[in-house]
Amino acid sequence: MPGDTCDVVVLLSGSGSNLQALIDSSAAPGSKVRVRAVIANRADAYGLQRAEAAGIATAVLDHKGFDGRDAFDAALMALIDGFAPQLVVLAGFMRILSGGFVRHYQGRLLNIHPSLLPLYKGLHTHQRALDAGDAEHGCSVHFVTEELDGGPLVVQAVIAVEPDDTAQSLAQRVHRQEHQIYPLAVRWFAEGRLRLGEEGALLDGQPLPASGHLIRP
Ligand code: GRF
Repeated sequence: MPGDTCDVVVLLSGSGSNLQALIDSSAAPGSKVRVRAVIANRADAYGLQRAEAAGIATAVLDHKGFDGRDAFDAALMALIDGFAPQLVVLAGFMRILSGGFVRHYQGRLLNIHPSLLPLYKGLHTHQRALDAGDAEHGCSVHFVTEELDGGPLVVQAVIAVEPDDTAQSLAQRVHRQEHQIYPLAVRWFAEGRLRLGEEGALLDGQPLPASGHLIRP
């Protein structure tokens, strides 16, 4: 990809603040990232409006209109592949994807999760970190594999949990970090620096640590 543009399709279900961060960073001089299209499974996802405001193609594919996960995922793959992206980015896409979907995009499918994976896969991550009395919390970007929230880590941002934190205050601070690390990971991929090797994620040809690249803002 070095030299060329990296076309990215973003999948989302909600607000799309991570999409916004990607759009904003792709406007930087010299960026190779082009958000080619945004696809939502809900017509009311605010992220669609963000995409339209930026002049990006949008599509809605409502899972409720399909008979089962495999049928929906097959239609979703066809829709995505129509945009011929080099990279597919999950940005708050609230669907579990089938093995066939994940294998189809092997090595070019990224997700962001609001916890320090492998801690707190699934939902309610901020409350779970508080309940566990964790001193640190954060967010993770990873390649997607068939294990839910389980693929090789690319980058994590670590923040301190303060004594008066609530799930809401933590969510806000974590979100701010998501907006830093997701554009960073996508930029690395677009520049040809990040790829998925046999044993895990590689940055500049070197294996990343199991935690991914760690950022402590
Ligand atoms: C983020 O918390 C992300 O980690 C999770 O979904 C949320 C999406 O937020 N996967 P937004 O729609 O990008 O604001």
